Parts: sequence; structure tokens; C-alpha cells
Amino acid sequence: MSGVETGDGQELRERVSRALSEVGNRWAMIPGFPRAKVEGKLLRPLLATAAALPPGAQLSKVDQLPQAFWEGTLAIQMVHEASLIHDDILDQASCRRGVASLQAERGLDAALVQGDHLLTGAYRLAAATGSLAFVRRMAQAVERTVAGEKAQGASRGQWLSEGEYREIVSWKSGGLFGCALALGRTLAGDEDGAEEDYRMGVRIGCLYQMVDDFLDLCPSTESGKPALQDLGQEKWTWPLTEAGIQDLRDLPTGADAPRKVRELLFRKDASGSSPMGRALARLRGEVDGVVVEWLQGRPDEHRLPIVLEEWVEMARKAMAREEGELDRSTPGEVRLPEGDPVLVDRLPGTGGAPHRGRILEEVRAEARALGSEEQWLRYFAHHGRSFRFASRLFPKQEGRLVAGVYAFCRFTDDLVDRAPHLPPEILEARLEAWMELTRAAYGGEDTGVPLLTGVLGETAERGVPLLYAEELIRGVAMDLAPPHYEELADLRRYSYRVASVVGLWLTELFGTHTPWVLRRAEAMGHAMQLTNILRDVGEDFREGRVYLPKAWLERHGIGIGALGEAVGSGVLPERWDILMEELMAAADAEYEAAFPAIPALPRFFQGPVAVAARVYQGIHHEIRRNGYDNLHLRAHTSFPAKLRLGSRSLLQLRKARRHPGADAEAQSGLRGSLPALPRM
Ligand code: FPP
Ligand code: MG
Repeated sequence: MSGVETGDGQELRERVSRALSEVGNRWAMIPGFPRAKVEGKLLRPLLATAAALPPGAQLSKVDQLPQAFWEGTLAIQMVHEASLIHDDILDQASCRRGVASLQAERGLDAALVQGDHLLTGAYRLAAATGSLAFVRRMAQAVERTVAGEKAQGASRGQWLSEGEYREIVSWKSGGLFGCALALGRTLAGDEDGAEEDYRMGVRIGCLYQMVDDFLDLCPSTESGKPALQDLGQEKWTWPLTEAGIQDLRDLPTGADAPRKVRELLFRKDASGSSPMGRALARLRGEVDGVVVEWLQGRPDEHRLPIVLEEWVEMARKAMAREEGELDRSTPGEVRLPEGDPVLVDRLPGTGGAPHRGRILEEVRAEARALGSEEQWLRYFAHHGRSFRFASRLFPKQEGRLVAGVYAFCRFTDDLVDRAPHLPPEILEARLEAWMELTRAAYGGEDTGVPLLTGVLGETAERGVPLLYAEELIRGVAMDLAPPHYEELADLRRYSYRVASVVGLWLTELFGTHTPWVLRRAEAMGHAMQLTNILRDVGEDFREGRVYLPKAWLERHGIGIGALGEAVGSGVLPERWDILMEELMAAADAEYEAAFPAIPALPRFFQGPVAVAARVYQGIHHEIRRNGYDNLHLRAHTSFPAKLRLGSRSLLQLRKARRHPGADAEAQSGLRGSLPALPRM
């Protein structure tokens, strides 16, 4: 593939398939060695070949690749086949690629041992390459495939943040793609080059899995696999995020599921956007990013961009099919005249919000009143005193972006906070209108709101997902109902939306897109939000809000009634201090997980983040100094304490920069275990 002109995909595939069959036949003569099927798309072998050929090479060069290369490629293909056989066992899948799965055809026992057999054979083949570096890489890829699968299994039924989903798929599917891409340079002893290829492979593998998961939500697509398999297994996949779903239990199952899934995921709202449409746009953006990077390293190599484009096209067609189904299923619907706000409000998919048109104009006018850059900076200065201090540490352009994102968050919050007298449906409609304007601005439309043009325009231009702004709006909407969080895992969905996304948004705006860093930015948000909740327990309670997870309160014998009594009487509930310590420990674990990623941020961003995080964490100390009374007192960090914490954090940062140690290794492709981030 490398350097060969386009349009030769079929010939290339035949050459690769032939070479693999030849090695397979030779090895099959060894008694006891398993035979691989070498069928399907052969993506991993094709990508391995693309990356291994020198730039500008003719197709005939494929046949000249060394024996060790084909042994390595076949080993990777065998691991892949083994993983699918085992995957079908775990999924209890009746078919794959349109034919009966091995376990359906020959039974569980036969499938299990066949998977094991292929896997052991793969290791022997890897050893035959004579490259210890490759054996190490492949062993690691197998570990990651299995660890990713385990992590996904353990997360069944749970909502996952974007970062958690990506972490899982980059292990489950990315590891083996990474190993395939790195094969050529690993065998050539070029470890740095191999590491670069590995990372690119992980991204491609991730994209592949994202497409697979997208198609799984398209029930009319003939994928050769059972329809809506992931939902049936309560597997969280990325497009669900676009629909604002937070609980897999809200998703339909059973015979009516395809119709309901279509309604939920493919129905366009008044602005013409559907969750799957937004997901597709995101996919397209990511593919563009990978293609640009790939072409920078291999300017003549067009095969991979074509393959990726085909994936996007597959997803687009699948979406069009579902939209067609939707139209067919609602044939009697009368098309209403355009521009009649009241009637338009009643259109399906608009949420039936009253007076949509009028509300949209009100929100637009309020947002316009925020003015332009100079005014946001003032808005920022007025509202966020502690953040303003940090903003002085930014270069001018970045400082403006911080102020812009801050103004966006603050304004979103104010849309509901400043109008407490309005009924919840109107507040919800205000947020929906804001969502619509936000999406339009991201799409390049002129909304007439300078804040949106500036911030969302810059967000789109820098290739940062719209998702963060959307999630923030959804997070604010969550506060329209009284909070009820059973476990910390439930509270995390809230803290992700109102806190983590802000860090993620800024981190990506400032050019850091590494998943490892982003997962830690997310952790920082969880940590800071939990600290914030712990500081304000009494204040929130008086407003009828309890954010603390109910199960944690109950474990210490504290019911909502007891909490109310304590707020009234001034006497803290028994074991309150223990509960607070436990929750602070959960937040601390997230702070500690997040801190090592700070040196990986752009230099100007490191100091502000380190200072803000440690100063905020310092609130825990103040809560203790108040005798854990966060029901009547508001923990307050004095200026000298802030200075002390701030300078300590900068010292720690300097040390971390000098000794990246284990953290650098954690980011590299060669670490052998799933980075254990705490789940508070
Ligand atoms: C397909 O994903 C599955 C994988 C990429 C890996 C599955 C890994 C195991 C079953 C662990 C055992 C691994 C080995 C190496 C023996 P999917 O289920 O989302 O895709 P599907 O739609 O094709 O089922
Ligand atoms: Mg599966």
C-alpha cells in the first residue's frame, strides 16, 4: 500500500492474502499447529503492509517483504481471529460476517479451544520472526485486547465518559492495530519509528471500533451480526453521548427497540440536527485529523485515507437508511408551514417546548448583550475572582479563550439561575435554544452572538469537539430537577458535565489531544467538583439540594431526615467526620491521578492548572479545621494559605517536569497494564 497509486486495493489485498496463505500452509504442515482462516477484510495485515513498504514502492515490492514480516503479520491475524471467536462466546452471538459463529455451529467447547489454539500458535509464529521486540509488542497487544475487553465487560450497564470509552476501545481494538502498524519498523530495529507507528495504529483501531459501534446502532444495516447487539448487552458506546443519554436503562430493548432507537438517535430536531448526525460529523472530523497526520509521515500513501473515507461513507449510508426508515414509519405526518413558531413547536423532536421561536430570540438577545471580547474579559473579572488571577498567567490570545469559555459556562448557568421564577419547562426550553445557537455557531452559521462566533468558531477551527459545550449545557439542565445520586459513580456523570468538560475543552483548545492527558483532565474535573460539593453541603441543603451520594450517607446511617435535623440543630450527625474523610479521600485520589498529566500540558497552562487544583484541594484542610462542619460554615482558604499552596504546587510541578519517570512510561505504548485511574 505504501507509495502505490490508488485504485489498486484489490490487487494489493490479493498479494497480501496470498503471502499469508503461503506462510499459513507451510506452518500447517507442522503437527499440532493451528490453521488460521485468513478471511474477512484483512485490515491489520493490509495496514501492516502499508506501513512496512518504503515510500514510492511498487506493488511488486509486497512479494519481496521478508519471511519474518509475513510470520509476524499472520501472528497478528491469528490473534485477531482468536479474539473474535472468544468475543462471540462472550457475546453469545449466533452469527458473524453473515454465517453462524463457531460456537453456534460447533458448540462452546470447540470454539473455546479453537480460540486458545490460534492464540498459542500466534505466539510461536511471533517467536519465529526472531525479533524479541516484536514478541514483546505482540504480547502487550494481546494483553491490552483482553484487558480492554475485561474493562468493557466490567462496565456493562454503566454510562461511560468519552475518555473512559476511548480508553477501553484503544486497548480492546487499538492495541492490535498499533502492533500491526509498528511491525515493519519493529523488525527493522527502529524502536522510535515503531512507537510512532504504534500510536497511529491505536488511533486507527479506535476509529475502526467507533465505526463498528456506530453501525451497531443502525438496526437496518446488514452487518452480518445480530442487530443492536451492543444495546442488548448494555454496552455503552460513543454515539449515545450525542443523544445526551445518561442511563442505559433508558434505552429501549425488545421487539420494538429498532423503531424506538431510530426515534431517539436519528430524529432531527428543529435545527435539523440528530444525535447520530452529530456523531457522524465528529467521526468525519477525527478521520480528517488522522489522515492529515498520516500524510505528513507518508505523503504518497493514499490507501489508508481511502479506507478511512470508506468507513465514514459506510456510516453515512447506514444513517441515511435509518432516516429513510423513519420517514416511512411516519408517512401520515403533515408538513407544517414554515415559520409558524407555535406549530413548529408541536413538531415531533422539538420536545414540544412552548413558544420555541420566541424563547430562542430572547436567549439570543441576552447572549448578544454579553458583547464582545473586552466585555467577556470584564464579565470574567467580575464573576470569577479566583480565576481572574490565574488568567493573568496566560498569553494574551489564550487568556481571551479562557475568558470566552468561562463566559460561555457562566452564561449557560445564568440562563437558569437568573430566572428561578420561571417554570422548569421554560428553563429547559431556554437551554434547548442555547444548545441550538451553540450548534449553529459551531457549524459556521452567523448567530449574531459574538460570544458564540468567537468561542465556538475557535473551537471548530481548532478541531475541538462540540461535545464539551453540549455536555455543559446538559449538565446545567440536570440541575433543573432536584439532584439524586445513589453512588459516586452516578454523581460522576454530573461532575463530568459541569466540571470535567471545562478542563477537557480548554486542554484541547490549547492543542493537547492525547487520550492519556484527557482522561486525567477529566479526573481533575471530578476531583474539583467533589471538593466544591463538600464545601457547600449546608448551603445546597437549604436550597433543597443534596448532591452527596445517598448510598454513602446511608452506609453511615445518615438519612435525609437526619441531615435536615443536623442543619437545623447545629449538631453534626454522628460519623459525619468519617463520611467527609471518605469523600475527601475519593476526591484526593482523582487529584493525584490527574496531577502527573500537568507537565504534558502546554507550558503556559501548567502553572494555572497546578495552582488552581492544589488551592482547591486545600479546601479539604479548611473543612477539617472547621471540625467538618460544612453544614453551617463555608470553608474558606485564606490568602496566605492560597499563596502557600500555590507555591508548593509550582515546586511540585517543577520537580515533576525534571523527573517524568513512571508517568512518561505510562504514556508510552510499552506499558503493560491498563492505567488504573480511580473511579470515585
Ligand atoms: C470485537 O469488539 C472484539 C474485540 C476487538 C476484542 C475481544 C477480546 C476478547 C474476547 C478477549 C479475548 C482475546 C483474545 C486475544 C483471545 P465488539 O464485540 O465490539 O465487536 P463485534 O461487533 O465484532 O462483536
Ligand atoms: Mg462483540
